[in-house]
Amino acid sequence: SYSAKIGPSILNSDLACLASECTRMLECGADYLHLDVMDGHFVPNITFGHPVVECLRKHLGQAPFFDMHMMVSRPEQWVKPMAAAGATQYTFHLEATSNAGALIKDIRESSMKVGLAIKPGTTVEELAPWASQIDMALVMTVEPGFGGQKFMEDMMPKVSWLRTQFPSLDIEVDGGVGPDSIHKCAEAGANMIVSGSAIMSSDDPRSVINFLRNACME
Ligand code: DX5
Ligand code: ZN
Repeated sequence: SYSAKIGPSILNSDLACLASECTRMLECGADYLHLDVMDGHFVPNITFGHPVVECLRKHLGQAPFFDMHMMVSRPEQWVKPMAAAGATQYTFHLEATSNAGALIKDIRESSMKVGLAIKPGTTVEELAPWASQIDMALVMTVEPGFGGQKFMEDMMPKVSWLRTQFPSLDIEVDGGVGPDSIHKCAEAGANMIVSGSAIMSSDDPRSVINFLRNACME
């Protein structure tokens, strides 16, 4: 039994009303916001970048934790702009950089927390050398790019392995996570839970958030 944090992904919300959608999630008990940045190159979809994050920070105030999921080809390029815009954590993809060490250092020097993400095809052994230097590992449970995809249960051994090797590391799951898949994530030891369409499509997001949180405490 352990406690997990729930971070709604607003990718599938009404993006023209982003600030109010984020406020709605925070009022429904979200512990943090998972903000999906896509550049149309690393993934076949485009969302938003640091100018939007800067506006969101102004609307929402200093308190909310912004976990920036950077699905971009050149993550080095956006560290300083994202820090200036008010990002709390900068989660980049291992596949997108040839110098993870320098990037981690750069993110820290910009006073953000460090998240390191791996796509389904990347092994957890490739992430392991960086585990002691990061705040959070993100194990993708879909191919990044779109909300509403099916949860890949075969990613759970990555989560369990990381949980065993690095007991105090924050481990996030992202993609297809909802009431039907949360128990697998909890069993494997994930403690930062991203959920997009399962929360956004619900008439009662508060109860979905509570369900996800409670499932990790069982
Ligand atoms: C996918 C994004 C996810 C996605 C989650 O590329 O990184 O954060 O929005 O949405 P669901 O929960 O619908 O898979
Ligand atoms: Zn994401």
